[in-house]
Amino acid sequence: MALAFCGLDLAHPIVNGSGTYDAIAARRAFGDALLEAFPFSAFVSKTITLKPRDGNPPPRLFETPAGMINSIGLPNKGLEGYLAHDLPELARLPVPLITNVMGSTADEIAQLVEAVDARAEIDAIELNVSCPNVKTGLDIGADPRELAAVVARVRPLTAKPLIVKLTPNASDVPAAAQAAEDAGADAVSLINTLRAFAPHPRIRTRPPRPWLGGGTGGMSGPAVRAVALAQVRAVAERVSVPIVGMGGVANGHHAAQLLDAGATVVAVGTESFRDPAAGTRIQRELHDLFAKSGNIAQTVRDV
Ligand SMILES: Cc1cc2nc3c(=O)[nH]c(=O)nc-3n(C[C@H](O)[C@H](O)[C@H](O)COP(=O)(O)O)c2cc1C
Repeated sequence: MALAFCGLDLAHPIVNGSGTYDAIAARRAFGDALLEAFPFSAFVSKTITLKPRDGNPPPRLFETPAGMINSIGLPNKGLEGYLAHDLPELARLPVPLITNVMGSTADEIAQLVEAVDARAEIDAIELNVSCPNVKTGLDIGADPRELAAVVARVRPLTAKPLIVKLTPNASDVPAAAQAAEDAGADAVSLINTLRAFAPHPRIRTRPPRPWLGGGTGGMSGPAVRAVALAQVRAVAERVSVPIVGMGGVANGHHAAQLLDAGATVVAVGTESFRDPAAGTRIQRELHDLFAKSGNIAQTVRDV
């Protein structure tokens, strides 16, 4: 199942979704055994921002039918903290390292990309464009013109593969994907979490009091899988760059469905909270599906 993705050699198509697998904590818990059987073929870091962030006040999670809403709020050590403390540890992982960055202006994103570009330990950059524009309140990635301007600004700053992680909270996701490709993105990834709201479960008010400390949050897990399939399929019809598909993948069959919809690589997110070895299991299940039929389409007919 080995493949080339944006010039990176991947042993199989399963990676992690940004922010859903703490490889440093896992290494502490499982020791070198983690390095011998790392669950993913590349590691995607949690989003880093220019300055350190504390994240949102608690509560930060709300369980929904077949999914969850998180309002973690991107806590991170900031660029300097990441480069000084996390990067040396992540560089020891036995797989390529993709660093995910987010900024609220094109200048901020450019500073992040330049700094990340200077580090040889990092193999690729993922731009998280689900950050609200301070003026409009819309995600930067929701407006194809604004997204194109951001990607065009940072593209000349790095020769590393540039993956644009699209926001699903947009009226025309394929148009955003196309804008990213035209501006020089090497790949797109989707879906990020869907904006969602959880009213306080015990206190009823009008308007409703939010349960989550951040007010609203992002929905993920099995409940968003059908949305991910629709968006990946629509984006695949529009762009020719490779796609990292994710959203609610919990087994090999779900991964195969995203590959059939047009993804080249599949990321596992929420499922890793339930089963920290999900990446390994899903990769094995996908392998078994492929082995049965030899190609993806045949696999689907066999199901
Ligand atoms: C707790 C949590 C934290 C996340 N943190 C990030 C993040 O830091 N950066 C990012 O781009 N996406 C982040 N995501 C989104 C995931 O990478 C993924 O796009 C999304 O959860 C859909 O996949 P899933 O349904 O398999 O979880 C986060 C998701 C969850 C559930």
